[in-house]
Amino acid sequence: MSKVLIVYYSLTGNTKLIAEAITESINADVLELKPVKELNAESGMKYFWGGFQATMKRKPKLKDFDIDPLIYDLIIIGTPVWAWTYSPPIRSFLSKFDLSSKKVALWTSSDGDGVKAMSRFKNTLRNSNIIGEISFISPKKHGVDEAKEKAIAWANEIIQNI
Ligand SMILES: Cc1cc2nc3c(=O)[nH]c(=O)nc-3n(C[C@H](O)[C@H](O)[C@H](O)COP(=O)(O)O)c2cc1C
Repeated sequence: MSKVLIVYYSLTGNTKLIAEAITESINADVLELKPVKELNAESGMKYFWGGFQATMKRKPKLKDFDIDPLIYDLIIIGTPVWAWTYSPPIRSFLSKFDLSSKKVALWTSSDGDGVKAMSRFKNTLRNSNIIGEISFISPKKHGVDEAKEKAIAWANEIIQNI
């Protein structure tokens, strides 16, 4: 049986909600990335510091985890959009593991359309085999049930292709 890993980062819970919906619908392991120094999700300053980190292409140190992503057949990666790109903890993850020729599927969560961020995400993973991509508009503000349904349908579709 193919092994699937869901990797994501979430500061305010939207990307997490999608990760949880996918996890409930397909057989997969989950890795939630946590930076050693996390921003305060309650503070308006998160836009400043988070936007700065994303724009400067910072790769914050992540808390240790004992999963080896390279043993999986498919890695589904989810990120919030920060300053029109994917989030810094995802940048840290992608710089740590060479996912060339691996099957990957990507999702973003954003307040706007997320198009530019998805194109940057895909460009970074251009040597991987990208078998799926989808964007969500922050589900906590715009409808949890609808987003969950969309996520579940998407996940079921991609696992047909592995
Ligand atoms: C630092 C920061 C930068 C952001 N930049 C953007 C952006 O450029 N475009 C956008 O549509 N949303 C932006 N957002 C909104 C988030 O992408 C959106 O709320 C997302 O759903 C948050 O996901 P999370 O709850 O999993 O952290 C930004 C949020 C933060 C904290």
